[in-house]
Amino acid sequence: MENITYDFGLVGLGVMGRNFILNVADQNFKAFGYDLDPEKVSELIEEGGDQSRVNASSDISSFVEALSLPRKIMLLVPAGKIVDAVIENLLPHLSKNDIIIDGGNSFFTDTDRREAYLQSKGIYFFGAGVSGGAKGARYGPSIMPGGSRSAYKEVQPIFEAVAAKFKNEPCVAYMGPKSAGNYVKMVHNGIEYGLMQLTSEFYSLLQKGGGLTNNELHQVYKTWNEGDLQSFLVEISAKIFEKKDPLGEGELIDKILDKAKQKGTGKWTSQNAMDIGIPIPTIDIAVSMREISALKNERILAAKKYKDGSIDISPKQQLIAKAENALFFSFIITYAQGMHQLKAASDEYGYELSLASIAKIWRAGCIIRAALLEDIAETFEKDKDLNNLLLSPAFESKVKESVGAAREIVIYAAENAIPMPGLFNSLSYFDAFTSEKLPLNLIQAQRDYFGSHTYERTDREGVFHTEWN
Ligand code: 6PG
Repeated sequence: MENITYDFGLVGLGVMGRNFILNVADQNFKAFGYDLDPEKVSELIEEGGDQSRVNASSDISSFVEALSLPRKIMLLVPAGKIVDAVIENLLPHLSKNDIIIDGGNSFFTDTDRREAYLQSKGIYFFGAGVSGGAKGARYGPSIMPGGSRSAYKEVQPIFEAVAAKFKNEPCVAYMGPKSAGNYVKMVHNGIEYGLMQLTSEFYSLLQKGGGLTNNELHQVYKTWNEGDLQSFLVEISAKIFEKKDPLGEGELIDKILDKAKQKGTGKWTSQNAMDIGIPIPTIDIAVSMREISALKNERILAAKKYKDGSIDISPKQQLIAKAENALFFSFIITYAQGMHQLKAASDEYGYELSLASIAKIWRAGCIIRAALLEDIAETFEKDKDLNNLLLSPAFESKVKESVGAAREIVIYAAENAIPMPGLFNSLSYFDAFTSEKLPLNLIQAQRDYFGSHTYERTDREGVFHTEWN
């Protein structure tokens, strides 16, 4: 045992860490785990079986000494101060050119700071987004690594082996320098928020507006998942609707409190989109909806005051057909917004992102995997400079075919007080984005009126100010 050196180290043997390290070992790399908690260490050793393949320790120097040079150490610990603490603990034991990979959802500027700090010590630092939850970690996640390109070569074989495969292509690619990996993962999560909001509001549309039972919802989402809407989130929604309540009668979905929690990545996506001036209103409202969902007590009081509960029930089959198209439209808009943000961030932060390769590594393994990503990858492959999917011929036809249904559902939902803000925002975004002329000339006039902020004119060059009174 003494002489074995291990190819890969992993810090943090919670569910994600344990699953990831077992995945690495399955791919014939020797892996060594570290966790302060001896119970987690024993659990891994027990599950891993052959200790020359998977081993673990709660002693940091034994852990570091077990690894071959340059050491490749991945951290799967909660984002924030813990990452800094782990780095400080590791540092005295490391050698020049060792590589630390942060696989958590760290905020991208933290990654930039850590990379600069570790560079000064001769250590490479990678921020690698990992998506796919516990199952993904075990059987193939989508991985979004960013950092030094030359150091990436050291971890590339391991990542390519453990990543999910889409038609034999591994769902991992070098994203770009610095915090590119964490940034891409952040926007992945923003899109995730948008798609989750949309799938949930179409559930309420069909339930309230069409009177669908859970079993019917299960059937509808299952059928949708066989068409244009094929995606992990639609697939799991179908399965969720049929799950029986293990503690009582009926389906579990009806017993789950309608307050959605969040750990912050969706909010960061929105905050940063505002910082770099890119509109992503479908994602913004998805974040706001989690906040509104938390206001349960207020919602109960307000519902008594304002909601009479009357709904004009719609013929089921028509509603289902329109909903499918409208959901597809809003899925497209959500991806369009996220990809636009990535394009702008690439210029802003010098990430040199390839949107085609991002779309490709999202085709399997990750939470936002969807058939649509195949078309998105192809579109960006053909036109690397494309700013927004809506401007591509392939998406022009998809949108033209589905926007009519989106409008009809918006009208129906508005008339019947069914909240569908993800869809509403997607449609408003689309209508604004496709307006050659917007009324924001009035805003410019108001700004100049009250604050002498000046304005530009449509008929001549220059900057103008008017004494409005
Ligand atoms: C993934 C998920 C994962 C996590 C989310 C949950 O890609 O595997 O995005 O990272 O489940 O961060 O986020 P919220 O708790 O904010 O919903």
